[in-house]
Amino acid sequence: MSQQFIDTARQPTSLSLLVRQVRYEAEGINSYELVHPLGEQLPPFTAGAHIDIHLPNGMTRQYSLCNAPHERHRYVIAVLRDEAGRGGSKALHDTLQVQGLTTVGAPRNNFHLAADAKKVILLAGGIGVTPMKSMAHALEAAGVPFELHYCARNEGCVAFREQFDTDWAHGQLHFHHDRGVPSDGLDIAGLLREPEAGTHVYYCGPSGFMKACAAATSHWARGTVHFEHFKAPEPEPASVSPAPAPGSFQLKIASSGVMLDVPPDKSIAEVLDEAGIHIETSCQAGLCATCKIRYLEGEVDHRDYILDEAEHGQWLTACVSRATSGVLVLDL
Ligand code: FES
Repeated sequence: MSQQFIDTARQPTSLSLLVRQVRYEAEGINSYELVHPLGEQLPPFTAGAHIDIHLPNGMTRQYSLCNAPHERHRYVIAVLRDEAGRGGSKALHDTLQVQGLTTVGAPRNNFHLAADAKKVILLAGGIGVTPMKSMAHALEAAGVPFELHYCARNEGCVAFREQFDTDWAHGQLHFHHDRGVPSDGLDIAGLLREPEAGTHVYYCGPSGFMKACAAATSHWARGTVHFEHFKAPEPEPASVSPAPAPGSFQLKIASSGVMLDVPPDKSIAEVLDEAGIHIETSCQAGLCATCKIRYLEGEVDHRDYILDEAEHGQWLTACVSRATSGVLVLDL
């Protein structure tokens, strides 16, 4: 096999991995098992981590790892083919074939399990089950009691059914099928009505599911509720029209005093890149925090779905954040 790790540094940032298995998991969902072409160990990951997949058509997409974090011989992702999406999932379904090679970024994690949790409630909506599955494996291995609530339209939409149907010593698994009628599904508000000391909640799923979980956990203590969007939420109807036009503003680079103009049609990351300051990006949609930068002065219109309120006081995401003040001073 001639292909090897693309980056030969000790901790590679980019890997060329072999697609060892593609498996039909559920309606529209395939899982992909990726291994080192020479059978070597892969960089470690923790539950909740994702990898970037660099597709042959130039697209990069992020997918949560869904296998057990103690496994070092493979990464497993599961991808729902989204016919109405931006094309990444369709391209992946169409191009990742068994025995092919694919370029993958090293695992990154913005969705960590809390180390001090006494109990964990995992809420998965549809393909949002992928990080939850990895978390279930990690919690099981650590002996932390957990509940996994997996909401899917019907039985045919449940991925990894056989793997979930094994004995879990520390986990209780519940499957909820609404058959297209949300009120027939899991009563999320009822489940989360009474916060329990030491319990942490994690959720991931489509837009309506995320909103229901956010509303149901609004009274939970800060730091006990964790979530990850897998795509940018749909805007509220009131904000759909007219869309707020992004204005222009300036960036000041704190270390050099250089001023840069950010026009309405460019992101902070693009302007910095053109000025020779490369900021790593991944999702380009405010979902992954790869591009986060500390700012020192100015008012930020954050527009991301990953940083929390406390982080917004110091950090912005260069791919989507704008300014509401004339100048933003960046800690660069
Ligand atoms: S690149 Fe993902 S948040 Fe900016």
